[in-house]
Amino acid sequence: MLMTRRVMFATCVIAVLCLVSLSHSVALDCEASVRPLDELDPDHLEGRWALIAGSFPDPAHLDFFKRRDSTSINFSNINFSNTNSTTTSFYTASVHFEGKCYSHSHNVSLEGSILNFIEQDEVNLTVTFLHVSSPDCVVMRYDNSKKLQRLLLFSRRREVNPQEMEEFSAQVKCLDMLPPAVMDPTKELCQEHSGSDSAVVDTERKPQ
Ligand SMILES: *[C@@H]1O[C@H](CO)[C@@H](O)[C@H](O)[C@H]1NC(C)=O
Ligand SMILES: *[C@@H]1O[C@H](CO)[C@@H](O)[C@H](O)[C@H]1NC(C)=O
Ligand SMILES: *[C@@H]1O[C@H](CO)[C@@H](O)[C@H](O)[C@H]1NC(C)=O
Ligand SMILES: *[C@@H]1O[C@H](CO)[C@@H](O)[C@H](O)[C@H]1NC(C)=O
Repeated sequence: MLMTRRVMFATCVIAVLCLVSLSHSVALDCEASVRPLDELDPDHLEGRWALIAGSFPDPAHLDFFKRRDSTSINFSNINFSNTNSTTTSFYTASVHFEGKCYSHSHNVSLEGSILNFIEQDEVNLTVTFLHVSSPDCVVMRYDNSKKLQRLLLFSRRREVNPQEMEEFSAQVKCLDMLPPAVMDPTKELCQEHSGSDSAVVDTERKPQ
């Protein structure tokens, strides 16, 4: 009887130790998985990226997000200024929503892996490019001054493979957000990325 108790006690201790080390390693993995990109070559961003999947901290924004057909972003006029070592770019987001295209453009600056909207009073968002394994994917974390707003996965392709999606889902989990919504790759992207703002509502900013 005593023997059995001892064995049980030992088993419990081992189980607890295992749990502790398991959660510890998960925490460490999260730190690595959601770290900002070590190095971002601004020229690498040039051109169009299709939205693959997105996640939000709350269901209302996720539901609104799911109603769009497609989204793409386009970086153009990437310029490096020697005077203040800042890279600026023109950024256009185009959302295909209920058969219409809504585009909005911004001047942005890039410092390391951080993208800032130059008109800060208009868009209080900071975007951080997070670590991603695939060279033709980018993961963008959007924060306003108060909290994490969304995490978006973009690619040069319209679809990513299961491992790439798994990597993104792990980042979402680490940031304690809702499971990602995956875009339908068969839905058309907006053709025009002309840079001039469309007169209609800006669905990219509406969910805030
Ligand atoms: C950097 O310098 C350019 C002109 O050289 C200027 O247009 C831009 O606003 C400056 N950016 C910052 C962040 O100071
Ligand atoms: C971006 O900056 C350029 C040059 O400073 C300016 O002409 C243009 O209107 C700006 N575009 C937007 C969308 O703010
Ligand atoms: C952005 O932040 C500034 C200062 O915190 C505030 O005055 C402004 O109203 C904010 N803009 C938006 C669109 O939330
Ligand atoms: C991206 O924007 C630039 C400048 O506005 C434009 O010339 C180019 O065609 C756009 N690219 C795509 C794929 O829409």
